[in-house]
Amino acid sequence: MLRVGILGCGSIAAKVAESLKDSKKVAVTGVASRERNKAKKFAAAHCPDAKVFGGYEKLAASDDIDLIYIATPNTYHYEHAILCIKEYKNVLIEKPFAMSKAETDSIFFEAKNRGVFVAEAMWTSYLPLHKKALEWIAEGRIGAVKYVAANLGYDIENVPRLNSPVLGGGSYLDLGVYTTNFALSFMGNDIRVSRVFARMTSSGIDRDTSYCMESEDGSILGNFYVTMCANTDKDAVVTGEKGKIKFNNINNYRKIALYTADDVLIEEVIDEEEYLHGYVYEFEACADAISKGLIQAPDMPWSKTTRIAQINDTIRSMM
Ligand SMILES: NC(=O)c1ccc[n+]([C@@H]2O[C@H](COP(=O)([O-])OP(=O)(O)OC[C@H]3O[C@@H](n4cnc5c(N)ncnc54)[C@H](OP(=O)(O)O)[C@@H]3O)[C@@H](O)[C@H]2O)c1
Repeated sequence: MLRVGILGCGSIAAKVAESLKDSKKVAVTGVASRERNKAKKFAAAHCPDAKVFGGYEKLAASDDIDLIYIATPNTYHYEHAILCIKEYKNVLIEKPFAMSKAETDSIFFEAKNRGVFVAEAMWTSYLPLHKKALEWIAEGRIGAVKYVAANLGYDIENVPRLNSPVLGGGSYLDLGVYTTNFALSFMGNDIRVSRVFARMTSSGIDRDTSYCMESEDGSILGNFYVTMCANTDKDAVVTGEKGKIKFNNINNYRKIALYTADDVLIEEVIDEEEYLHGYVYEFEACADAISKGLIQAPDMPWSKTTRIAQINDTIRSMM
């Protein structure tokens, strides 16, 4: 059983703790907050057997933890990752992994030097339906990919973290990292950002961002938009020469469907699990990788996280 320590008792940490309750491979055995009392309440509500830590440093130094899940605001991921890695703790870091490629490189540098496992909690990459869609493409079921479109929007304008430049707010860093991960998964690694249109608030936050990407050889076009102002359908379509794959909810794939070029349904796969179960896959993937002595998660290798960080820098510089 992989012993997980949660660093930061916020909203996503609570969902993750709930989702891991039934896992046979992973258990939350530690919880740290800046305030001990908050960690105590969090543990009582979500993981009563977990040890409570008042202060992140104490969790990082604990001998009873195999993996620390960093669930703090975006601008703190770097600091908290380095804190844990310097204590030789494996880490799973919430998305966006860091605020820049420079921070990303530095985290991987410190981890590599110490032989510490690090992965980005880009949960969509670990989902079975994500892997199934990649299999369909590798099998040539839709032929060469030509066009990719995806959107992700939630009505979350009032969440304070998302409106704060200091905490790394904005729709792109919160949601766009998923569409960019989607682009890299289905358009390949050799892509560039060709256009960005962002609508900014007076505090310098992008409320919504629309962007185009294309493959370096010009054969694939990608069109994406993300917003923190409305609940969009969250769907995507990957169109190939011979057919297409439609995705229902790219933030936690509910269904993928394979069609011919003429829109005749060939096959569909539905995720029958509870919505929160989506978080279990990334943790169990970490458990598997760590048990094999790996320092990267095969579903979300460092090269992909680094590439996302690079694209994030480009998109943010074009806003
Ligand atoms: N995978 C997903 O589906 C998903 C969903 C939502 C968010 N996320 C990611 O998870 C991270 C956390 O998001 P969240 O929605 O859980 O945020 P949140 O509810 O605001 O919680 C963040 C936690 O970080 C800690 N923290 C440390 N320094 C802080 C500071 N200066 N200000 C505020 N909080 C601070 C706090 O925990 P203590 O008070 O206990 O120390 C706080 O509860 C973000 O990076 C976000 O992108 C991922």
